[in-house]
Amino acid sequence: MTTHTRPLGTTGPRVSALGLGCMGMSALYGEADRGEAIATVHAALDAGVTLLDTGDFYGMGHNEMLIGEALRTAPAALRERAQLSVKFGALRDPDGGWGGVDGRPAAVKNFVAYSLQRLGVDHIDVYRIARADPDVPIEETVGAIAELVEKGHVRHIGLSEVGADTVRRAAATAPITDLQIEYSLISRAVEEQILPTTRELGISLTAYGVLSRGLISGHFTAERRLAADDWRAHSPRFQGDNLRHNLDLVEALRKVAADKGVSVAQIAIAWVLSRGEDIVPLVGARTRERLTESLGALDVTLDAADLAAIEQAVPQGAAAGDRYPAPQMAHLGTRE
Ligand SMILES: NC(=O)c1ccc[n+]([C@@H]2O[C@H](COP(=O)([O-])OP(=O)(O)OC[C@H]3O[C@@H](n4cnc5c(N)ncnc54)[C@H](OP(=O)(O)O)[C@@H]3O)[C@@H](O)[C@H]2O)c1
Repeated sequence: MTTHTRPLGTTGPRVSALGLGCMGMSALYGEADRGEAIATVHAALDAGVTLLDTGDFYGMGHNEMLIGEALRTAPAALRERAQLSVKFGALRDPDGGWGGVDGRPAAVKNFVAYSLQRLGVDHIDVYRIARADPDVPIEETVGAIAELVEKGHVRHIGLSEVGADTVRRAAATAPITDLQIEYSLISRAVEEQILPTTRELGISLTAYGVLSRGLISGHFTAERRLAADDWRAHSPRFQGDNLRHNLDLVEALRKVAADKGVSVAQIAIAWVLSRGEDIVPLVGARTRERLTESLGALDVTLDAADLAAIEQAVPQGAAAGDRYPAPQMAHLGTRE
């Protein structure tokens, strides 16, 4: 069992140093096995992973219901360990389409009421809008969550994929524990403006995509056929020449990992862990096998020579292709 923990900002709780991102158990990465997904949540809690991340729009409620079932069927001692981080705001349709974002205060209250029911809990540990609503000032959305904190429905307020200015405005409205944003060896744009800002304000990062959605996990191959509804089938980094270039980077990283006697995924996660105590990587494991591999990263210590070898294998800015398809890039905290 892991006892590694990290603080979630200066105002939040301590959480496990690795969080479990549950999105792929319901949506966006093709079919997942429900029984194995629930077993993975149980195994994570058993291993000391307390932070579980979800969104009400992952599978239109499916992911929250799955987590709710995992919590109901877990032994009480494990259930009580769970710290739930929930995103809201993204609008869906019955065919799975996306319809923008809603951050109006009335919508925030509506979203949380449904999430509490689906999760089967009386409070959410960290609540955040998935993308800032361009039509609603962030102060109004964060202010609405602050009211939920006062009433006890939510414990803490987080942010997701917003830029440094929005982080400042949100933090001036209410205490913010963490910003959830993509950060990996091949997505390092947060280092420029966002990390200095969150550090100044005492806000942590919960880093997603630390394996770049599997691309730099060491398990992804150019031959893998992705279903049409797999988000990666439309992601620039997974296309043609970009994919071949990016997998060459993975092969360079594989040599560094082999010299250290660890796997590619472990060295990629360990690199994010090494960026600071204020960074909590969310790993998207949806099987126990992948979870076990990810947890191994907690025991990998990278010294200066290791970090230099990693940097040489995957220099900053080395990835080919943007991290999101063009229309989605406009709504992100960093445009790289
Ligand atoms: N705030 C946001 O905008 C945002 C956006 C995206 C995600 N998130 C959150 O962050 C979480 C993590 O993101 P992600 O799922 O894209 O991250 P990730 O960990 O970079 O990618 C997960 C994928 O990598 C593959 N993989 C291979 N080896 C693995 C290993 N040892 N451990 C884990 N995965 C391995 C898995 O694919 P196979 O199962 O096919 O092997 C898995 O689907 C999500 O679950 C979600 O909660 C937030």
